[in-house]
Amino acid sequence: MHYRIGFIGAGKMAEAMIAGLIARNVFTKDEIVACAPSEKTRWHIEKTYGVRTFPKAADMVDSADMVVLAVKPKQIPGLFAEEGVRVPAETMVISIVAGMSMEVLKTYVPDSKIVRVMPNHCCMVLEGAMGYTCDPRMTSDEKSEVAGILSAVGYAAEVPEDMMDAVTGIAGSSPAFMYMVIDAMADAGVLNGLSRADSIRLAAQSMLGAAKMVLETGKHPDVLKDEVCSPAGTTIVGVRALEDGGLRPAMIDAVDSTIRKSREMGKR
Ligand SMILES: NC(=O)c1ccc[n+]([C@@H]2O[C@H](COP(=O)([O-])OP(=O)(O)OC[C@H]3O[C@@H](n4cnc5c(N)ncnc54)[C@H](OP(=O)(O)O)[C@@H]3O)[C@@H](O)[C@H]2O)c1
Repeated sequence: MHYRIGFIGAGKMAEAMIAGLIARNVFTKDEIVACAPSEKTRWHIEKTYGVRTFPKAADMVDSADMVVLAVKPKQIPGLFAEEGVRVPAETMVISIVAGMSMEVLKTYVPDSKIVRVMPNHCCMVLEGAMGYTCDPRMTSDEKSEVAGILSAVGYAAEVPEDMMDAVTGIAGSSPAFMYMVIDAMADAGVLNGLSRADSIRLAAQSMLGAAKMVLETGKHPDVLKDEVCSPAGTTIVGVRALEDGGLRPAMIDAVDSTIRKSREMGKR
């Protein structure tokens, strides 16, 4: 059998990509293959998506046009050194391994064209935000194919590799910051008598709606904010409270600290 794409690792991120690729008709289930050591994982992927699986990457890599490296960073040496996986030179490698540079990836797959991706966990609901860097040898057709694959699970921006740390801050880590905002808003709802469930739902839906407004109207967020602040109204009072509480500098600092931490970790 021959497959268009093979996943090395079939955990949370690989599953999100498999689900997105099938749901968005990028590939059929018969064009996808995956591998994972545990029978439980393989059974889940086969039963849920109808995708063929193997216990070992070595038995799968030769039968796929491209492979997605979707194991944890600490599992990479075991895969290539102990199991002796050899990816053929003509097979493109898409790595979603967090923090692993092109330079390091090349030591494991020296002959393949590599795409390094920094996804975030919202890929699991097909609303991820990702940055990716392509091997300079890639053709425009190969780049289009990669863009199509990543777009199945969210928005993907091609960036130079030295921008990957910035992507980690603004997309990789930022869902945690958004969850904190939703949680804090929900606390205020509960404080004023709404149920916890209604408060979380209303806060989350407001964030989703606001994000869609930014993306779909193309208006600057500040313009949209001004549009909902009527003179002497309720919203401008809340805006002043957020300015007094230092929302902007706190958020800039949160993203910037994350970027700096990612750079430090990369150097190690
Ligand atoms: N989760 C996120 O939000 C997120 C965000 C950004 C980047 N990433 C990156 O995405 C990658 C995958 O993360 P994840 O959250 O999907 O991890 P995960 O759920 O732990 O999945 C890892 C998968 O790798 C499999 N595996 C382990 N050793 C293997 C081997 N030798 N050969 C083949 N498969 C092997 C595991 O198999 P079993 O199931 O059998 O144990 C599992 O299916 C990581 O490098 C992570 O840094 C994740």
